[in-house]
Amino acid sequence: MPETATAAALITRPLVARVMGGYRLGLAGIHGPGHWRRVRANALALATLTEGADPHVVELFALLHDSRRLNDDHDPEHGPRAAALARELAAATLLALDTARLDLLADACARHTDGDTTADPTIGCCWDADRLELSRLGIRPNSRYLSTRAARDPAVQHAAWTHGSDRAHLPAPPGWPAPRR
Ligand SMILES: [Fe+2]
Repeated sequence: MPETATAAALITRPLVARVMGGYRLGLAGIHGPGHWRRVRANALALATLTEGADPHVVELFALLHDSRRLNDDHDPEHGPRAAALARELAAATLLALDTARLDLLADACARHTDGDTTADPTIGCCWDADRLELSRLGIRPNSRYLSTRAARDPAVQHAAWTHGSDRAHLPAPPGWPAPRR
């Protein structure tokens, strides 16, 4: 994808239709579109501060990573299902990613609940963005489980805590799935 591609070109209507067509949980839930938008905001903030992080991959991670959950509780296979979805979407030419970026996205989705850290800047931003969103459950992230230096930045942590603990409905580019109250 050219570096000039916009988020609007990345998150297309057919892509979102496929994602939401297989989404089984509520639009107001703790793993639903409100969470995806806050993960997006966290991830883009982290990517801005993290050399080598790919903003397109982190944006797609935000959209996909919890979209194949079957419940809001214990669902250890939802990460691998999200990774499989990423590959299905790519095969259907709905993801504007080259192979290397697709592999990063799939890997970030597949292992995002394993409690690992990573040296990869893109995957690190994905996982840390999700961990900073523990704020929506009133939980501060344990720095042992953070991969990036940016996720320890007080301003980033403050913003994530504020919008997460409010379960804020953050703005996102056109086409992004909308949460409900
Ligand atoms: Fe998540």
